[in-house]
Amino acid sequence: VDRIFSGIQPTGTPHLGNYLGAIQNWVNLQEECSSVLYSIMDMHSLTMPKEPAVLRQNILDTTAAILACGIDPKKCFLFRQSLMKRASQNSEGTVGLLTYPVLQAADILLYKSTHVPVGEDQVLHLELAQDIAQHFNKKYGEFFPVPKAILSTTKKIKSLRDPAVKMSKSDPQKLATVSIADSPDEIVLKFRKAVTDFTSEVTYDPASRPGVSNLVSIHAAVTGLSIKEVLHQATGLDTAHYKMVVAESVIQKFAPIRNEIKKLQEDKSYLIKVLEDGAEKAKELAAPIYQEIRRLVGFQ
Ligand code: TYM
Repeated sequence: VDRIFSGIQPTGTPHLGNYLGAIQNWVNLQEECSSVLYSIMDMHSLTMPKEPAVLRQNILDTTAAILACGIDPKKCFLFRQSLMKRASQNSEGTVGLLTYPVLQAADILLYKSTHVPVGEDQVLHLELAQDIAQHFNKKYGEFFPVPKAILSTTKKIKSLRDPAVKMSKSDPQKLATVSIADSPDEIVLKFRKAVTDFTSEVTYDPASRPGVSNLVSIHAAVTGLSIKEVLHQATGLDTAHYKMVVAESVIQKFAPIRNEIKKLQEDKSYLIKVLEDGAEKAKELAAPIYQEIRRLVGFQ
């Protein structure tokens, strides 16, 4: 049987890259599969604020956003990682950096996950999980499925300020990253300032024209149209006008989600309850697998 697992760091409201690279797939997969787990990875201390109050708020904001995107706690287990784990609590700073991919492999394998919907930047991390699964199976007998990545068509959304790098929450340039809760004004501003090149025509060629191609990818992804259809719509527009078309499509797509985020953010106790219920179910699922791992290894 298939088991879907994925996670997100609680850096607050997700951005366009998180949504198009991963969360949109999460929503589709919960409809198709019967065993689906999504986790707020609050114990991976890579890019996380250390201030407890900020972290607590970010966890709730991330949860509200994921639910607003269409994740349904009746169709999947949505939980906080820290409600699950006792080990590795002190993996801070450099140790955190070193152990991060190993922890991520453990997250995935603990549920015998078969598929992991992620953006392209997580593929290397996933390969470590695959190696560990294979290594374990060789030593102790076939036990773990080797987890496969599920990538979306927009597996890598680029920064709006520098199309050579991915869109990232930690980007110091405010205009580089579009949050899915940004206001229409903010969205227009960020797309208006998006870095393209000196050719005014709209074409799709990620290698030679990464900036405008990133806009075309975003446009296609949020409208559900193909690249070809989007290019057809852009016929005759210069990049400056096209940026406003893309901004408008992003505003349209996220307007209902943005409203829903605001509503959910006001219901803290609901958010906390969703995460707690999810953790209960995830624990139940993991417990026998964890016992079996301990037995196979000889810890008991
Ligand atoms: P995180 O929180 O950085 O990102 C969450 C998801 O969003 C994807 N993503 C992108 N996709 C396309 N374009 C982008 N610019 C972009 N930026 C982010 C990421 O690939 C990811 O799928 N290490 C993970 C969290 C994690 C995890 C796990 C994921 C911890 N354990 C186990 C899967 C399985 C992370 O930091 O994601």
